[in-house]
Amino acid sequence: MSRLAGKRALITGGARGIGLAFAQAYVREGASVVLLDLDGEAATRAAAAIGPAASARRLDVSKPDEIDAAVAELAAVAPIDILVNNAALFDMAPVNEVSEASYDRLFSVNVKGSLFMMRAVSRAMIEAGRGGKIINMASQAGRRGEALVTVYCATKAAVISLTQSAGLALIRHGINVNAIAPGVVDGEHWSHVDSLFARYENRPLGEKKRLVGEAVPFGRMGTPEDLTGMAIFLASAESNYVVAQTYNVDGGNWMS
Ligand SMILES: NC(=O)c1ccc[n+]([C@@H]2O[C@H](COP(=O)([O-])OP(=O)(O)OC[C@H]3O[C@@H](n4cnc5c(N)ncnc54)[C@H](O)[C@@H]3O)[C@@H](O)[C@H]2O)c1
Repeated sequence: MSRLAGKRALITGGARGIGLAFAQAYVREGASVVLLDLDGEAATRAAAAIGPAASARRLDVSKPDEIDAAVAELAAVAPIDILVNNAALFDMAPVNEVSEASYDRLFSVNVKGSLFMMRAVSRAMIEAGRGGKIINMASQAGRRGEALVTVYCATKAAVISLTQSAGLALIRHGINVNAIAPGVVDGEHWSHVDSLFARYENRPLGEKKRLVGEAVPFGRMGTPEDLTGMAIFLASAESNYVVAQTYNVDGGNWMS
């Protein structure tokens, strides 16, 4: 299939996990991709493994100056058609134990990073005058709070809100902004989540992950590939009339 033929996508946090699966899927659909990641070496390795349609650039999305410089540099080479705001950090603590450092780290990547990537890329898209697609990675965690996941849940609720405001502001430029809210997706991210639950809930390693997987109505945790259909749809012309929405792709974990 070539639903994204000739399109050029930037994917933050594209070195591994969900972002990497999106990059592979977009290239299969005919796009070229730029993997933007704090871990520049892993991004370079991932791009090399994908092939000539992929390239990599180190970027810290918590730094708006770095974002503006990177996006200006990339937009000067060729127009940007698609942005996936996927880079994020996770941490866990109940409200009475939250640290300011954890709050600052998570908000600076998950919220500030997504917002200022949208600012820079939407400016470039408006200037190029050919519309575009912006996809933000929210989470089921943004749909409701969790006793132990105070800050991360708040960052993902903010991503849903930013998607709504940006979606409403940018559709008149032909730029669709939408979001995906995954449920529980297996990979390095969830190994980290599992280790934090093990500490806070005094469980053996791996137990929380097994339990959340069993609780998914579909019958298992998600994989990054389970999300690629929605990521392609939201990046393609098929979603032109879809504006400011957040879609749950979670095996039935959440229904609003
Ligand atoms: N895995 C899940 O269960 C799950 C569930 C819901 C939502 N999500 C969301 O999906 C997205 C991808 O999740 P994942 O599981 O693939 O994560 P991951 O932790 O495997 O990968 C995240 C990537 O972001 C990069 N990154 C971190 N800080 C950065 C920064 N400052 N600048 C640039 N890059 C940075 C990391 O180097 C890494 O490559 C995230 O937004 C996450 O919140 C994941």
